[in-house]
Amino acid sequence: MIYSEILTKGSKFLKKKKIQNPYLDSELILSKVINKKREEILLNTNNKLKNKDIVKFKNYLCRRCEKEPMAYILGYKYFWKHKFLTNKSVLIPRPDTEQVIAETLKYLPIEKTKKILDIGTGSGCIIISLLKERPKCIATAIDISKNAIKVAKTNAKLHQLENKINFINIDIDKYKSYNYDLIVSNPPYINSVELNRLDDDIKFHEPTLALSGGSDGLRDLKKVIIKSKNLLKINGKLILEIGHRQKNKCSKILNENGYYINQISKDLSGKERCIVSTKLK
Ligand SMILES: C[S@@+](CC[C@H](N)C(=O)[O-])C[C@H]1O[C@@H](n2cnc3c(N)ncnc32)[C@H](O)[C@@H]1O
Repeated sequence: MIYSEILTKGSKFLKKKKIQNPYLDSELILSKVINKKREEILLNTNNKLKNKDIVKFKNYLCRRCEKEPMAYILGYKYFWKHKFLTNKSVLIPRPDTEQVIAETLKYLPIEKTKKILDIGTGSGCIIISLLKERPKCIATAIDISKNAIKVAKTNAKLHQLENKINFINIDIDKYKSYNYDLIVSNPPYINSVELNRLDDDIKFHEPTLALSGGSDGLRDLKKVIIKSKNLLKINGKLILEIGHRQKNKCSKILNENGYYINQISKDLSGKERCIVSTKLK
């Protein structure tokens, strides 16, 4: 079978299974199987595939039909300016979270050394992106998931930051180090009702531990806000990603816990998703 034939067959099959972007996914899968860039495939559509590659292609295609996200099938996802390795132990880095990076960088002057903590690091995409932009900073990143920490460490190595970020597998409840200038966190914040309504790609494949914020979605946000009071320096910043209907409740929790709200910013679709606050005392 030649490239163009397998791409047509693959995309038809995915389309039948109601997968969005069937042709693009087929191309990406073929490019993984034969380890060549998409451009090379498009320039050589009459090239023949080896039988073993046809088998591999079919296997990946079946995984995609089961709604497995492309980031897990391919094993990577681009976020901010870099490529991050991903597997089913970690949440797939989202474009929305890039807003958190943009906001956080405003509070990290390029020449200064700041001590940063990333709570719930997952793939490490937030802290690694920040440290790539602010190499003088010192960072710790924690996650309750041992496997997520493994992925984050691999990503740090990939981006030559393994000696600059201290990764710790720990529950935020048990973490005791303090004196941070800035804490950043994208905690799980989806409530039980919304969790059930998520697309199958997310609901059946991404880790529930990374998504579920309890019945009201605020369980982990509250934990992070309360815990950060002890971990931050006075005037330290707490920067949170929140769900699109959590601005008011989250602001209230922050105010009740003695934080001043500096800014609430919108994501690409105009929803308020990032809160910057300051620990006052
Ligand atoms: C929404 S994901 C964010 C992952 C990554 N920071 C990102 O933005 O793509 C939340 C992460 O918090 C971690 N987590 C959940 N509960 C935690 C806890 N009690 N202590 C520490 N980490 C926790 C999960 O394992 C998951 O990796």
